Amino acid sequence: MQLVASCVRVRCRLTGTTMVFKRWLRGGKADDEAPAGYVVPQRSNPAHAIVDPGSRQRPAFLDSILQGEGPEGANVMLPRFKASASDDIQTSGEDPKLARARLALRDALGASQPVTSSDRFAGRHDALGQLIAAIEQQRVHVVIYGERGIGKTSLVHVFADTARQARYLVIYGTCGTEARFDDMFRAFASRIPILFHGSVVPTAAETEHGKYLDSLLPEGSFGPREISDLFADIVGTRIILILDEYDRVADPSFRRDVAELIKNLSDRAARVQLVLTGVASNLDELIGYAPSIRRNVVGLPMRPLTLAEVRSLLAMGETAAGLHFNDEATSLISTMANGSPYLVRLLGHRAALMALDQRQTLVDEGHARAAVEKVLGDWNASLPLRAQTILASSAAQAEWPLLVAAAKAGMASDGWFTVDEVAGVLGNANPPAAVERSLRSFVGANNIIELVDTGHEHRFRFRYPGVASMLLMSAAMAGLTS
Ligand SMILES: Nc1ncnc2c1ncn2[C@@H]1O[C@H](COP(=O)(O)OP(=O)(O)OP(=O)(O)O)[C@@H](O)[C@H]1O
Ligand SMILES: [Mg+2]
Repeated sequence: MQLVASCVRVRCRLTGTTMVFKRWLRGGKADDEAPAGYVVPQRSNPAHAIVDPGSRQRPAFLDSILQGEGPEGANVMLPRFKASASDDIQTSGEDPKLARARLALRDALGASQPVTSSDRFAGRHDALGQLIAAIEQQRVHVVIYGERGIGKTSLVHVFADTARQARYLVIYGTCGTEARFDDMFRAFASRIPILFHGSVVPTAAETEHGKYLDSLLPEGSFGPREISDLFADIVGTRIILILDEYDRVADPSFRRDVAELIKNLSDRAARVQLVLTGVASNLDELIGYAPSIRRNVVGLPMRPLTLAEVRSLLAMGETAAGLHFNDEATSLISTMANGSPYLVRLLGHRAALMALDQRQTLVDEGHARAAVEKVLGDWNASLPLRAQTILASSAAQAEWPLLVAAAKAGMASDGWFTVDEVAGVLGNANPPAAVERSLRSFVGANNIIELVDTGHEHRFRFRYPGVASMLLMSAAMAGLTS
């Protein structure tokens, strides 16, 4: 299916500014011809928005997003894998040097997994230094927080490596939505050799060898008191327990128990420290309001990568594949990624592949722009057709600045935003009541925003994370091209 576009010029109800946006239409169908079952928002109210579908103006960067896959003639060969599953280059087909560069690039800049070793880890010297100091000198517990994809898991993996080199016993665990306190801490205890417990003498019988601390825990369920009793008797080592993705824990009693455990461990100067990580914009959001442990916890916010850090991340791709990103490409990728290492890798990888496809070793601004367009196109295509249709509607176009502001407001809290936060991003000219009205026009089971009433506030979120990503990156690109 081919994406066809037309363009509209719209006046935002909230800001009063006129902007030009594309419309994504599938197979050339207009919104009002959308298949049955798809929600097509009402065309914008002429009293609020001026829509000029005849306009052909639009930011140039959108053009290539709208081009289809290109002609697929009958003689064109089906795509094939370029390397075998054991990473051997297939001999038939393309130049083995190119194929090798592609593989090296995937290993150096692939964006799908956290970094687990320091040779793939760019920048973050300050964060790693603060984390080490908090554990080693301040002897406190640490909460690492920041937006999705900012590099929390990568940081704790590299930190864990460094701590293990200093003979700490580091145990890594990921929290799930269903996580229970006793299950999680029984699993941690099951990886701590019992020989580190004060009750076991070093010359203990053979039978004590190969046993773990969980054997000293009660059979059924237990709470923070039992586990802190156990951990208070650790001797001969220091232990770091990492609870990654702590924001996913749904059970409030889990968080209360962890806060209680932190308090108990601190009061008893136990040789066990916790490192929690999660998507949040501040410490309280992650650990809850817990004044009793404030003295015992250090919050470590993850900030966006600097330009120098982006450069050093891309340099890993350069070394691996024998390429060079020029300054313009580096700066464009840095701006578009807005400090997210995930996006730097995604865009850097794409841009470098495009240069390789053209048999060039210099990755320039053109490749970087093409990478942004490709990523935007992929994100758009991966949305449900319903969401694409709504984004392409004139109602969405009329409210585009509001939608972008909502995406920005949700960045630090896993997509969630409130009316006041969106109004704050938009500025004083936009009264919260008008912002709320506009947001609500996109709320619904078949629409792009979901709404949750928490009892004390209304929280909104884009139903598909891809929508927020698209809005943010297309706004950044439009800002560059305007
Ligand atoms: N310092 C770094 N150097 C190089 N790549 C990095 C760095 N930090 C993160 N990345 C890359 O960015 C992407 C996201 O990183 P990571 O998974 O660590 O983020 P996260 O904050 O844990 O994300 P989430 O909130 O989804 O759990 C990964 O592809 C990872 O390889
Ligand atoms: Mg993570």
